[in-house]
Amino acid sequence: MLKKEITEALNEQINKEIFSAYLYMSMSAYTSDLVLKGFASWFMVQYHEEMYHAMKMYEYIQSQGESVVLKAIEAPATTFDSPLDTFEKTLEHEQFVTQSIHDLMDLAIEHKDHATKIFLEWYVSEQVEEEDTAGDMIAQLKMIGQDAHALLMMDRELAVRAVGIPVDFSKGVEQEG
Ligand code: FEO
Repeated sequence: MLKKEITEALNEQINKEIFSAYLYMSMSAYTSDLVLKGFASWFMVQYHEEMYHAMKMYEYIQSQGESVVLKAIEAPATTFDSPLDTFEKTLEHEQFVTQSIHDLMDLAIEHKDHATKIFLEWYVSEQVEEEDTAGDMIAQLKMIGQDAHALLMMDRELAVRAVGIPVDFSKGVEQEG
């Protein structure tokens, strides 16, 4: 059982995670249009990661005997200025998500909800990683500048990233070994 305020905040967070997935799907479409297939693939992996974040929360709410309440997902931006712009917007968005997770954590602490606090710790660590990755991409793209050859090399490197989490949620999110 969860406090009403916490259930509501977790449901809000599901919406933010699915919006994140939608945003990265949009970035995947944009970079695909630029024929940067490695970037497109990387953002599609990120899409799956975000759906995993949402589903993990979805299952937590249910495991606490509460109801999942889904809300409308806002439309993401559909056009960007450059590959660098996609990662600058990624970092900006992840900083927003980090703040949201921290606010949720503060709420769990305020309500002395130890189970939710432990559950959210995973997200706190995940956000450090997400911001770090986006920051690295920005630094690399700034180094690359207008060098098309270097951009294509980076594109090839990004293509290697594989989905490391389950994408079929029909049997739950914790099915990985
Ligand atoms: Fe689920 Fe990228 O935060």
